Amino acid sequence: MNRVQEKVAVVTGGANGIGNAICELLGQEGAWVLVTDIEDEAGRETVRRIVKKGGRAEYFHAEVSRREDAARAMEKAAEHNGRIDILCNNAAYLGESHAVLESTDEEWDKCIKVALMGTHYFTKEALPYMIRQKKGSIVNVVSIQALAGMMTSVAYTATKAALLGYTLSAAYDYGPHNVRVNSLCPGPIHTRISAEPGTAHYKWQCDNTVLGRVGSPEEVAWAALFLASDEASYVTGVTLPVDGGWTSK
Ligand SMILES: NC(=O)c1ccc[n+]([C@@H]2O[C@H](COP(=O)([O-])OP(=O)(O)OC[C@H]3O[C@@H](n4cnc5c(N)ncnc54)[C@H](O)[C@@H]3O)[C@@H](O)[C@H]2O)c1
Repeated sequence: MNRVQEKVAVVTGGANGIGNAICELLGQEGAWVLVTDIEDEAGRETVRRIVKKGGRAEYFHAEVSRREDAARAMEKAAEHNGRIDILCNNAAYLGESHAVLESTDEEWDKCIKVALMGTHYFTKEALPYMIRQKKGSIVNVVSIQALAGMMTSVAYTATKAALLGYTLSAAYDYGPHNVRVNSLCPGPIHTRISAEPGTAHYKWQCDNTVLGRVGSPEEVAWAALFLASDEASYVTGVTLPVDGGWTSK
């Protein structure tokens, strides 16, 4: 309990799946959480669950690919006590899986706008607060697809790989301000976008991990909590796989 007590956290894509689990865990551990998403009802439901467990949170509609939404979200979060302590860039666009020859410009545009530019807009808006505070933690949710070749989803994979570079660059530039920036790389995690149990793809995912199973959103959230908290005060610029050992093989 209280591992991020009194910190102000902003999470993108907090209405479902991994983002929802991160919001709930940060709330449970004492943070005031701004849950942002484009699915308003599900986002409000995340807030209701946090509050029901005694936490504090608000919902804010923010389409991450819109620069002005990022600015408004940060202003909203800062209304709480003027601080932004934690930013978790989690929203992404997976879309349909296509290899190079089948991939379309529209698919590339959307992957880049949501995952990469969304991360950039939110980070750019959070940094001035964190620099002023001389402290902050940014956690970028990437994917093991940035580390290991797998499915035919070249636009998504390339965008996620770019996020690793973004993380390193931001960690380098803002480390002197005590702002830490790290990447989390989830492996196969059971959310609405993942393979259903019983399918060949699900079995393939389980077989590719060392632990022999798909992970839960909560297992990613614990890693995000660590990176977000002061327990990781000497950790910046890292890529942390949360993948059941997939990339260790
Ligand atoms: N599930 C997995 O197996 C897995 C594996 C590796 C990485 N990831 C990454 O984890 C993150 C979360 O994925 P998930 O599995 O929880 O998916 P999800 O679909 O369950 O949740 C994603 C959330 O992001 C929101 N979102 C999507 N586009 C948005 C936009 N433009 N603006 C604001 N919000 C938006 C959605 O409404 C949704 O609430 C993504 O970055 C994904 O790439 C997931």
